[in-house]
Amino acid sequence: MDRFDGIEFHDHHPEANDFLDVVLRGLTDEPKWIPPKFFYDKRGSELFERITRLSEYYATRTEIAILRDCAGEVAGLVGRDSLLIEYGSGSSNKVGILLDALQGDVTYVAIDISRQHLVESCERLAESYPRLEVIAVCADYSTPFPLPAPRRGMPQNKLVFFPGSTIGNFSPDQAVSFLANTARQIGTGGSLLIGVDLKKDEKLLHAAYNDSEQVTAAFNLNLLERINQEFAADFDLSAFSHRAFYNTERGRIEMHIVSLKPQVVSLNGASIRFVKSETIHTENSYKFSIGEFQHLAKQSGFEPVKVWTDPQDLFSLHYLTAR
Ligand code: AVI
Repeated sequence: MDRFDGIEFHDHHPEANDFLDVVLRGLTDEPKWIPPKFFYDKRGSELFERITRLSEYYATRTEIAILRDCAGEVAGLVGRDSLLIEYGSGSSNKVGILLDALQGDVTYVAIDISRQHLVESCERLAESYPRLEVIAVCADYSTPFPLPAPRRGMPQNKLVFFPGSTIGNFSPDQAVSFLANTARQIGTGGSLLIGVDLKKDEKLLHAAYNDSEQVTAAFNLNLLERINQEFAADFDLSAFSHRAFYNTERGRIEMHIVSLKPQVVSLNGASIRFVKSETIHTENSYKFSIGEFQHLAKQSGFEPVKVWTDPQDLFSLHYLTAR
């Protein structure tokens, strides 16, 4: 454990373990794939921040508006003195709305895979909330890890905050096992406040993942840039393009990187062959109805307590408790 200005820092070195192995496995598979958790290096995290501010990307501003409306009610449900755990905290800008509403002493545990982003945003929060105990954990939250203990002991009231509909980036099986691990981690009576993107008009979805400024395209292609930098690979970025579409049958946006020509890329001594139009599947973003998500949550050991949506039913925020 290290201490940076006012924050406690635990590093589980999430990227050291498997990026190269996974990339090699994914790029030699048929069809090719790379999991979306690898989007978030420093540049990827910056690009994602830009996505959240795009006019086409309704999710972030809608979730923030819902959160502003319901934060007082959430604080009442959680109770005084709490441990607030945020998975994939990123720039931690939504959590301030909760911190302003929660009552009594609060310990904030921020968990993110992107080290620099995590530390910078936790330092900012510690400065803005001098009474808040801030613990930063650099980890891959899709696999279980021990919760660090607050200095003042473990509070009764625990709230996991998982905003942004990142749950939609997991496969249905992964989502169930992630939620079940979360329920186990916080124990019976612990709560989860989770943002879930809703099924909607396909045109809105298509625009959100094919923005006119092409920030999403840059975010997707940055994966190849990252592989070039970290493994001395020679992806020619101009020979690949971004594709995102709504798969109605599966209820998900799919993102792919498309090879614009037949080509061979060298990666850590391996030769990766592409035929023209072959794709690397880089992300799924599942969209749910309220009932579909509640069904998934119940399967994973949670009881739905309350759900809030915006007037246009674009996005939902669910409050659930672990059984
Ligand atoms: C982080 N996650 C919920 C985003 C999403 O909408 O699935 C990631 C993203 N991919 C493209 N745009 C945003």
